Amino acid sequence: MKRIIQINETSTLYVGRAEELLERVLPEGRTIVITDANIDRLYPNLVRRYEHIIVGQGEVCKSLQTVERVYRELMTLGADRSTFILGIGGGIVTDIAGFVAATYMRGVDFGFVSTTLLGQVDASIGGKNGVNVADYKNMVGTFRQPRFVIADVEMLRTLPKRELRAGMAEVVKSAIIADAELFERLERCGGAIYDSAEDMQEVMLGAVAVKARIVAEDEREGGVRRLLNLGHTLGHAIEKCTHDVNHGEAVAIGMSLVAHAAVRRGMLSEDVAKRIDSVLVALGLKLDMPVTITEMLREVKYDKKKKNNSIRLIVPVRIGKCEIKELSFEELGQLFK
Ligand SMILES: NC(=O)c1ccc[n+]([C@@H]2O[C@H](COP(=O)([O-])OP(=O)(O)OC[C@H]3O[C@@H](n4cnc5c(N)ncnc54)[C@H](O)[C@@H]3O)[C@@H](O)[C@H]2O)c1
Repeated sequence: MKRIIQINETSTLYVGRAEELLERVLPEGRTIVITDANIDRLYPNLVRRYEHIIVGQGEVCKSLQTVERVYRELMTLGADRSTFILGIGGGIVTDIAGFVAATYMRGVDFGFVSTTLLGQVDASIGGKNGVNVADYKNMVGTFRQPRFVIADVEMLRTLPKRELRAGMAEVVKSAIIADAELFERLERCGGAIYDSAEDMQEVMLGAVAVKARIVAEDEREGGVRRLLNLGHTLGHAIEKCTHDVNHGEAVAIGMSLVAHAAVRRGMLSEDVAKRIDSVLVALGLKLDMPVTITEMLREVKYDKKKKNNSIRLIVPVRIGKCEIKELSFEELGQLFK
């Protein structure tokens, strides 16, 4: 099960067994692993053959304090500019590892073994590495590509089901943005996909290809990369209003809300909006609104006000095609009347 995708000139995705692939792709010399306690416990053979640094879990640990602690541990270990940093974990670990590697001694080479579905299709791809500052997510960060990303779908077997479904919301997102065939495959597989490593690998590759294509066109998020935010503006707001849903679950609800708003504005056929809902539900994502529309819109406004006075909403016009709409808050409110 080995597959290779060239993400750009400097970065390659390898799909297959992590242990085998690492032997082939790690550069000669010293490697220091950055990982979390879950991965260390579940995959000691992978982690413990290298010197390693364990970081904490959860968004609170994706912080400059953690970054500083890792710098200090690297200094204690005597890491220099020739040291290779290997992040093994989900999006939190790879964001921290990427940020540390991009800045330690003005930058050292790094790579990832991405161990969550969200990480494999999204967080590890594209060269953005950020950490949070106070309540602001990914406020400080770098654009720097890992030399390689390894995605081993076998490692998803130990991932809690809820995390797996959350990652699947991002796969559906990629399909709606730019890959109608991927969407149809998801419709055909439905919930049974989680039991098939082969189908999981294929849809993961489909979603990675979408992200890689979009990032190649727009590395620094000036244009088409914004399409990747489908469902995210509303999803983030929902996430902020309640702790009952995680990121992927909130994005799924956000995508459904935007699709139905697009139907009301005559931009999308009702049939397509229903297909979007059905595939999300079949993949185990719930679409019940955990907060009111008013609460959600208030949060969108509060969040965006800090940056500018309008919002960009990504709106599906058919499966495989979305458009970027610039809206005032009034226009946004109208969409949900
Ligand atoms: N840099 C980017 O472009 C980008 C894009 C999207 C998301 N992100 C970031 O990614 C983060 C979320 O990442 P995530 O969803 O992977 O969450 P995560 O990194 O918090 O991982 C979720 C949980 O699963 C555990 N875990 C990871 N792999 C496992 C495995 N194989 N088996 C068992 N448990 C495992 C982790 O220890 C953790 O407890 C957010 O901070 C988000 O901002 C970054």
